[in-house]
Amino acid sequence: MGFHTYDIENAAAMNDSDRFRFCSIEELLGLFEPGGTVADLGSGTGFFTQHVAAHADRLIAIDIQPAMHEWFRREGLPANVDLLTAPIGSLGLADDALDGAVSTFTFHEFNSQSAIDELARTIRPGGQIAIVDWTATGPGAEGPPTDHRYSLAEATAAVADQPFTVEVASERDETFAIGLRRDA
Ligand SMILES: C[S@@+](CC[C@H](N)C(=O)[O-])C[C@H]1O[C@@H](n2cnc3c(N)ncnc32)[C@H](O)[C@@H]1O
Repeated sequence: MGFHTYDIENAAAMNDSDRFRFCSIEELLGLFEPGGTVADLGSGTGFFTQHVAAHADRLIAIDIQPAMHEWFRREGLPANVDLLTAPIGSLGLADDALDGAVSTFTFHEFNSQSAIDELARTIRPGGQIAIVDWTATGPGAEGPPTDHRYSLAEATAAVADQPFTVEVASERDETFAIGLRRDA
């Protein structure tokens, strides 16, 4: 689906702790080992980013909307967080630059061949990616319309021809969780 901008007027809602109903920090950190240099793919206001950063040496918060980064900066950036304004499909990072990546509620916005190729290029062999997003098979009572989402099967199929092994694949009610490891 390429990318969607997120209305900055609604950014305050992204910092509502009620969102932990759909993905807790504990769960996110259980999907991968967040050491070294970690990217947050579609970091938004930094709601999840700040917690992941506490477990990484360096966190690169990536978002296509400068206004999201401005919001995160105003809230107070952790010292080990760098902001990168770029589309996931063209990060401008070196090959194997990332030890890992995390993405919350954004896969349906960035999933494309260019984004998957770019992740295969920039995640080092053995590095992991944790993805949590709304699922197309959910009831759609919260989150984007179900026809704007991917199912767990569609999301794992997106990396089928890529050098990633799916280590965790779990579909819940409104969301799915995936843990990937870059092949050696
Ligand atoms: C729904 S918000 C989620 C933000 C954050 N991950 C969270 O859970 O609070 C999606 C964010 O991803 C960004 N985004 C969407 N498509 C993108 C892309 N292709 N490349 C980089 N950022 C993208 C949007 O600008 C937005 O800030």
